[in-house]
Order: sequence, then C-alpha cells, then structure tokens
Amino acid sequence: MEDLNFRKGDAKTNVYGSDEMLQPAPVDKIPLGPTTPEIAYQMVKDETFSQTQPRLNLATFVTTYMDEYATKLMNEAINMNFIDETEYPRVAIMSSKCINIIANLWNSPETNKWKAGALGIGSSEACMLGGIAAWLRWRKRRQDAGKPFDKPNLVMSSGFQVVWEKFAQLWQIEMRQVPLTLEKTTLDPEEALKMCDENTICIVPIQGVTWTGLNDDVEALDKALDAYNAKTGYEIPIHVDAASGGFIMPFLNPEKKWDFRLKWVLSISTSGHKFGLVYPGLGWTVWKDKKYLPAEMSFTVNYLGAEVTQVGLNYSRPAAQVLGQYYQFIRLGFEGYKNIQYNSMEIAKYLHEEIGKIPQFKNYASDVVNPLFVWYMDPEYDKTAKWTLYDVQDKLAQSGWMVPAYTLPANLQQFVVMRVVVRQGFNRDMADMLLGDIKNAVAALDKLEYPTPTRIAFEKQEAVTEKFNHNGRSSSAK
Ligand SMILES: Cc1ncc(COP(=O)(O)O)c(C=O)c1O
Repeated sequence: MEDLNFRKGDAKTNVYGSDEMLQPAPVDKIPLGPTTPEIAYQMVKDETFSQTQPRLNLATFVTTYMDEYATKLMNEAINMNFIDETEYPRVAIMSSKCINIIANLWNSPETNKWKAGALGIGSSEACMLGGIAAWLRWRKRRQDAGKPFDKPNLVMSSGFQVVWEKFAQLWQIEMRQVPLTLEKTTLDPEEALKMCDENTICIVPIQGVTWTGLNDDVEALDKALDAYNAKTGYEIPIHVDAASGGFIMPFLNPEKKWDFRLKWVLSISTSGHKFGLVYPGLGWTVWKDKKYLPAEMSFTVNYLGAEVTQVGLNYSRPAAQVLGQYYQFIRLGFEGYKNIQYNSMEIAKYLHEEIGKIPQFKNYASDVVNPLFVWYMDPEYDKTAKWTLYDVQDKLAQSGWMVPAYTLPANLQQFVVMRVVVRQGFNRDMADMLLGDIKNAVAALDKLEYPTPTRIAFEKQEAVTEKFNHNGRSSSAK
C-alpha cells in the first residue's frame, strides 16, 4: 500500500527527501500544517548557511566567541525573562552584582551597597538612559529656578554613533556637533565648550569612537568644563559613551582618568556584548551616585506578585546575558580580562603596523588605543587608482572575511576607510591570513586596466563635490 506520509514529514522522512525541500520557504503566509522539527530546523539553518562566519566578521564590535561553559550556561537560561524579577530574584541580584563590579572598575565613589545602574539591550539603550537622566536633572534645575526648559541641547563630536541621533530625535533635544578634522581627530574640549550654554544637558565624550577607534580626552574636557562651570554657574555634566572603551581602559590603561575619578563625569555607559565579552544583547549604565538617577526614571510595578522597581526602556528581555556577564567576571577575573584585551590590542597593533607598510594604504591614526583601527587609500596613489576600498571589501568577502569600507562622518566624508575590530576569537595566525588576503586583493586590483564600477561612481561623486564646492555653496564638504 502507498505510504502517503512518506514525503510529508513523519518519523521516516529523510529531510532532503521531503516535499518541503522542493518548495520555496514561506514568505507571506504561515504554512497550512506542521512539519517535523528536523525539516523546519534545516530550512531555517540553510537560509543563513552561506553567510560570513561570525568570527570572520571583523566589522562587528559584538562578541562572537564565548567558551563552552558560558555558551551552555546561556543556552540553559534561554527561557528566562529578565523582567520576571519576582520569579527569578537571583537574576535581578546577579545583575546588581554586575553593576557593582562595573562601577568599581570605573572607580565609583558610591558608598551604597548597591550602586546606581541599569542594564539595557545594548549600548544604545544604555546611552539613552544616561542621556535621559541628564535631561531630567537639567529640567528639574530649570524648573526649580523658574526658567524655561523647552530647548535642551547636547554637545558631542561629529564622530557620534547613530544612537545619539536617535536620542536627540526621540526626545527632541538639539544635537550640537563639534566637527572632527584630520588635525583634530577627537573631541576638542574648547570647541565643545563654545557650543555649550544654559540649556546644555550634558557633553558626551566617547571612549572608542565607532568610526576610528580613538578616545576623546575626557580628563582634559573635565578640567576645561570645571573652569567653565565655575565661571558661568552652570552645572553641565559629562556622560561618557564608553561602548567599547569601558571594558578596555580599566584593564589596559588603569592610570588614565576618564571615569568617575573625574568631577563632572556623572554617568557612563558601555556594551556588555562588546569588550564585556558576552553574546548580544547587553549594555550597562552606571551613575556616579544614586542622587544622579532621577526618581522619574524608576517604575514600580506590582502585578508580578511583588513591588518591583525597574529602570529601563524595555520591559521583557532575555536574562541569559546577565548570567553570561557574571560568569565571565568569575571565570576570567581581572587578570583574565586583561590577558584577553591585551592580546586583542597586540594583534590590532600588529595588523595596524603591517597595513601601514602596504604602499597603497595609509593608517588614519598613528596610535591604536582600542583594539580597532581604520585606514584609507594613500592620497597620492588614490589619484591614479582604478579601484576603491569597496573593491577590497568585496574581494575579502570571497574568502569569508567581512571587513567594512565606509566614508567618515561630516567634514571628513571624502575619506573612504576600512576598519578592523579585533576581538576575542581572533588570533595572530588569523591576522596573518587576513593580511595575506588583503595583499592578494590589492595585487589583483592593481593589475586592472580599466576602473571598477565603484571607482567610476567615486570619480563621479568627486566631480559633483568639486562643482558643489566651486559654486561656493558648501565649503565644508571637502
Ligand atoms: C560609541 C558607541 N556608542 C553606542 C553604540 C551602540 O551600541 P549597541 O550596538 O551596543 O547598541 C556603539 C556601537 O557600535 C558605539 O560604538
């Protein structure tokens, strides 16, 4: 008798002998009936099968390697919702312990047993929480003084990550940007202060600028701001966006003051899922003291079986990352973190040096202060080149590497750069393989007789910019 179920997905069905494997995967409508877990698994797995191996993705800052026990621990917690604090009170306590540990890494002066902080889904949420607190504190001061509070602004360099633009748009806060230039590659404190006024809610220096990997000089900013606040009577604070640097500086450069040792640094945010060495998504914000975390930001809910106080933009979120972060603190300790960050930094410096020797390229900065850096095409070579860094990106992708090419922010947008982020999971041998592939790509591109499509597009763009400048409509485009 014919077995009608044979190809429809019962226990005997071979995954690749099933009907499903002859059908396109659902796009618009949920399938009418179920299939076996093996078939469903394979279809979903296969859709992403050809994509870059996460550890070869040198574009991302986010953790792509954790050890077996961390992975097991996080997988076992996959069904826990962090917000169910009544059901999982130990997770809430674990999160507070992580906040304490991070606060102490950043030299918090707070004497309370539990330091003021919050977790977020990443640095984006963590930055927003820092920004909102600064805005609410400013607003309260203005209200108390009977002054208008409808025109808040925020000052930072044009090297900001997009979250700050989102923050400014969503909360209707004017964003004042200090332009970066080739000479001034990080936030200039004096220029920042020139943009401040009584409506400035905070200045946001960055530790680990996304575009370049560089650090703004928070100590110099703090000093200049102290004099400025004393002169004007304003109380403009600093929120440090330490998405990357927050987990690099304490281990590799503990003497450098960028954190709560500085007077006006009242809050700091970082990504647990970047150099905090935890799989996504996890961010942390810490305040210097509870008094800087406005009461309006805490919400108390009581329908989970108890009164629970939360600080955050999200409600439900996975708990697994908290377990992962706490595991890493216990497993690695200070020395373990230091070793991993040291290796990442050494490999980044090695790549930086070797890429600096390739005649067609030029490093953007002479220093590597976080385990990432950018380079661009040597301007002399660029005049006659038949290709661009976008072509190098494409060639590297053929070997599985994801190394992004992009233009720098406003004022420097004529520079197409490439960036490498070195993280745990990338070793010296891989660096040599990458260098070999970069050199091969350059050698192959150098043999081209005719310009590549990206080069043609680039030249056209250049011509438009030239004309634009010549007409005197914009002098900042170049
Ligand atoms: C300086 C900076 N701030 C904020 C963010 C946003 O971080 P996340 O992706 O963790 O939300 C990033 C991400 O790269 C960053 O580099």
